[in-house]
Amino acid sequence: MKPSVGQPLSRLEGRQKVTGAAKYAADYQVPGLLYGYVVSSTITKGKIVRIDTSAAKALPGVVEVLTHENRPGLAWFDLQYADMDAPPGTVFKPLCDDKIRFNGQPVALVVAEAFETARYGATLVQLNYEEESFVTSVEANLGAARAAKKGIATALKPPPPAPTGDFEKVYSAAPIKVDAEYQHGIEHHNPMELFATTTVFEGDGKLTIYDKTQGTINNQFFVANVFGLRYKDVRVLAPYVGGAFGSGLRPQYQLFLSVMAAMYLKRNVRVVLDRHQMFTLAHRPQNMQRLQFATDENGRLTAARHAAFVETSSYEDYTEVISSWSHRLYPIPNTRFEYKVVPLDLSTPIDMRAPGGVTAMHAIECTMDQLAYKLGIDPLELRLRNYAEVDPSTGKPFTSKALRECYQQAASKFGWSERNPEPGSMKRGNKLVGYGMATGVWDAYQFPSRVQAMITKEGKLKINNAVTDIGTGTFTVMTQVAADELGLPIEDVIFGYGDSKKPFSMFQGGSSMTSSTGVAIVMAAKALKEKLLKKAKDIPNSPLVGVAEKDITFKDGSISLRNDPSVHVSFQAIVAANKGQVIKTTKMGKPHLLKLRKYSKMTHSASFVEVEVDKDLKTIVVTRAVTAVAAGKIINPKTARSQISGSMVWGISKALHEESVIDENLGKYVNPNLAEYHIPTHADVHQLEVIFADEKDELINELGTKGVGEIGLVAMPAAIANAIFHATGKRINRLPIHFDELLA
Ligand code: MOS
Repeated sequence: MKPSVGQPLSRLEGRQKVTGAAKYAADYQVPGLLYGYVVSSTITKGKIVRIDTSAAKALPGVVEVLTHENRPGLAWFDLQYADMDAPPGTVFKPLCDDKIRFNGQPVALVVAEAFETARYGATLVQLNYEEESFVTSVEANLGAARAAKKGIATALKPPPPAPTGDFEKVYSAAPIKVDAEYQHGIEHHNPMELFATTTVFEGDGKLTIYDKTQGTINNQFFVANVFGLRYKDVRVLAPYVGGAFGSGLRPQYQLFLSVMAAMYLKRNVRVVLDRHQMFTLAHRPQNMQRLQFATDENGRLTAARHAAFVETSSYEDYTEVISSWSHRLYPIPNTRFEYKVVPLDLSTPIDMRAPGGVTAMHAIECTMDQLAYKLGIDPLELRLRNYAEVDPSTGKPFTSKALRECYQQAASKFGWSERNPEPGSMKRGNKLVGYGMATGVWDAYQFPSRVQAMITKEGKLKINNAVTDIGTGTFTVMTQVAADELGLPIEDVIFGYGDSKKPFSMFQGGSSMTSSTGVAIVMAAKALKEKLLKKAKDIPNSPLVGVAEKDITFKDGSISLRNDPSVHVSFQAIVAANKGQVIKTTKMGKPHLLKLRKYSKMTHSASFVEVEVDKDLKTIVVTRAVTAVAAGKIINPKTARSQISGSMVWGISKALHEESVIDENLGKYVNPNLAEYHIPTHADVHQLEVIFADEKDELINELGTKGVGEIGLVAMPAAIANAIFHATGKRINRLPIHFDELLA
């Protein structure tokens, strides 16, 4: 039998998804369901002085209106609201008081027998506010920038390292230098599936919750802590998730409101947010960056300063890793990295695909492009002159690094050598043609994960883990890993996931899941095989008695002799001999922290982009792009390719389309809908090519995987901005780049 790992399998749940059979959080029909609709604040900051729910309550079909005045007593301490991804600060508690902290904050929940009644009832709730002045712009409030508070969640997001060498002295004396500022607007995750929760009130303090989330266990703990329930009595299910991109890393307020209403009314309650309300949750923060990079005459980096000023909310200190990435990619003897938060009257930002990484690398790789022009060196050659053989920030070797291969393979596929470096020199009819390139870098994370593995009566392998599949392909990829471990066809593997009742998994995030759950599967499978062999030998007259472990193999649902497959014991026979009881085991998969302390572990990419800019109208089209990725072993080339090409589309979006625009006078978004929040359509996306560099990593983990969820995005915005410069001679450092900026 051919191994499944390495095969470009189509998604196992693909048919369910495209035929509409897959059920999402708001699709579960439960008896006596009530519908909650959120009333959102229309002011940005201040307090509620009067809330009148009488008209809403009088509406036939309205069951209750919950506000800060009548909501039931709840957990008091902030800590109990702190989920696994909560940054330092005071967690936002819906309906906890009369204070308004951001525009669109939930201020009431109308619960009715029908969705339409609840929605109409929400318009009847009358609110009077006392408004206060507010701030919603990083650029206009740089004076308020300060260091972020530290907390548990910052373990994965360390503050910038201490300075090295003497940046000021070396930079001021350097022969070649670039001093540049970069700015990014806000982006909203906007997954297709709206945030929704269906809470089934089981009685006896028990809840079953269908929730849109990236982490079933994170939300299970949150609900139990806040509502004073036992962990085992709260079950959170999310078998299908219609995209999330980071927005589901934390429990969102529709979960809280749905559970609160269900417990208060002792009924089943569903709360679904509308698209407008989706803009009041998570977002990628606006930011400003200042970079000062210097090189010697040969283009070797000698000094770098990278200062980031990033939005957070008034109540939590959300941070990203932004300023220190250049030093993990390029050797730079003299560095100064800074990160400051700017608290604004907006909801707390949340990680969005490649958080920090894509933000930083846009600035870093555009600065590198500018240096290349100052030096008169090809941009790719400049990267190669600064290629790091070991991690420059720590001096540690990499577990693997095939970035050079990424550069070479992507450049050759793209045809980079045909580039005339002179800006505006390449033309195609009425179009200016630009070639740009950039580097991507991302962490290779692995979290502890527990997996239960069992052989059923039918001889099938069942794997259980609480992990979600937010559209990444986890279900398929994990099935492939499990199949190979036991030598089974994938049809004989059942992967159970998306359920907090199953053994522990972190939320799906950080491109970590293939390594996290995958390694746990390897561990559990190994233990299961030992158990199976032992049980097989215990069978009376077993042909395997006295056979050494090295002489047997697990194949086609049997344990057989390596050199004589006719001598075998089937899994079914083993279970039958076990009085029909399934054979099972549970094991933990953990990163090898001690061993890995000596190494740097990262994924890399290189993107090469061609743009066409209309000579007269200045409209910009990304005509083709090639991204090469080095991310260790690729379990499924098809789902992995989808992750990368999807990220590349996002890169086009980030560079040219996506932004939530705030009216600074109102403190609210003016385009909170999918008509005016621009994302690329088919007409904007042309030829995309994905290459996986051959990268064998025998150190990183048992599978050799490093994750592909985010790395495909990192290099794209910078490569596009650099291509636009090449086409037009204009450096536009604010994303998204619009054609009108090229008209000036
Ligand atoms: Mo992601 S931003 O790791 O969900």
